[in-house]
Amino acid sequence: MVDLAKRLARRARGKEPSPIRELLGYLKVEGMISLGGGYPNPDTFVFDSIDIRFKGGSTATLEGKELSVASQYGPSDAHPALKQELTTWHKSKDGVALGGDQLVVLNGCQEGLFIMAYLFTDEDDSIILSEPAYPGALSAFKSFTRNFVAVPLDEHGMVTSELEIILDRLADRGEKLPKFIYTVPSGHNPGGVALAQDRKEQMLKVASKHDLLILEDDPYQLVSLDGGDLAPTIQSMDTEGRVVRLDSFSKVFAPGLRIGYASGPADLMHQFLLFKQSSNLHTSMFIQATLQKYMSTSGHEGFRKHIRTNCEFYRKNRDAMIEAARKYLPPEVSYNIPSEGMFVWFVLPDKCDAKRMINEQCEKLKVLLVPGSAFSTRGGLTNCMRASFSMVAPEAITEGMRRFGEMVKAEMTRS
Ligand SMILES: Cc1ncc(COP(=O)(O)O)c(C=O)c1O
Repeated sequence: MVDLAKRLARRARGKEPSPIRELLGYLKVEGMISLGGGYPNPDTFVFDSIDIRFKGGSTATLEGKELSVASQYGPSDAHPALKQELTTWHKSKDGVALGGDQLVVLNGCQEGLFIMAYLFTDEDDSIILSEPAYPGALSAFKSFTRNFVAVPLDEHGMVTSELEIILDRLADRGEKLPKFIYTVPSGHNPGGVALAQDRKEQMLKVASKHDLLILEDDPYQLVSLDGGDLAPTIQSMDTEGRVVRLDSFSKVFAPGLRIGYASGPADLMHQFLLFKQSSNLHTSMFIQATLQKYMSTSGHEGFRKHIRTNCEFYRKNRDAMIEAARKYLPPEVSYNIPSEGMFVWFVLPDKCDAKRMINEQCEKLKVLLVPGSAFSTRGGLTNCMRASFSMVAPEAITEGMRRFGEMVKAEMTRS
């Protein structure tokens, strides 16, 4: 097992659990009369009952005890009934059996990115990640450190041979090693690629060699565009307790609800729990109850069916984008065909300036993509662009790509 104490950031050391929250366990004792809690009385809450109607016709009602629980303060790790659902969900999805102290519900994966950097990075620490990188992660991490070690990304995900070379070099020179490896293994945002199995193995091997933690941020795992079995997660292959995994319901349920969960070794999840206690007590019980009601009403197979239907929808959009890219983009532009997620990453000839293209031509041609520099740790990737196929219908995707093709051709004749 990994020694946590030595790697915590200064701000996270010696944090004590909330003395009141620690007493909550006693409430389960049969016959206990608690004069200790400071909770408001649920009889005073405004809700009488809440009916939820899901697409497809199924319904659920929150009332009585369930409604009191959903409206009341709750445990910092998870709504108890949701925790049970998630433990079963995680086991059937990833084959990993989580203990009761190995899961913490979060306000989306984004909160997990913030917590991880809060826990482990002081200002003079660094994080190692593939570039291009998800800007939301860079933004969360930059709250604590501006030091990033960038590893290239290719069609098989982070180039782990490079990861190894970079870390070996740092170690040989006696320099400080990064605090953790950050990776998005499925449907990478913005790269649109999946991390190959042999690279997951190499990442774990390298993490073990240099005694590093891995943050596996996997919100696109279930947005699987070509069907088939899910790839083994890095967490499922970890035998040393080095992986913190982030799962999200944003892409398969509803992002506005802000719900996901972290899982990993119990001592690490305890640190996540302490953070929740001191930041927002817990993720909204109401939102957790809504997800729990959906999972128990539809059943996990019903949920998976809903996800498969949505993946079919996204697959058609992806196919429209790739077909139009083949038709309208000059052969000098390269891209991968994503098997998960919502993004295609376009690499234009070196001389193209994506920011200038957007600034000068996006209004005229009426097509918008995100310039690559948004995904770089130091303003690089200036000849790259990210396109998303999630929000636009296939016909509009085709027309958008035709316009993008015009934009690229104009830039290529200019430069
Ligand atoms: C790679 C990646 N990580 C995390 C997030 C945030 O996910 P959530 O909505 O679960 O906070 C996103 C959202 O786009 C993402 O693309």
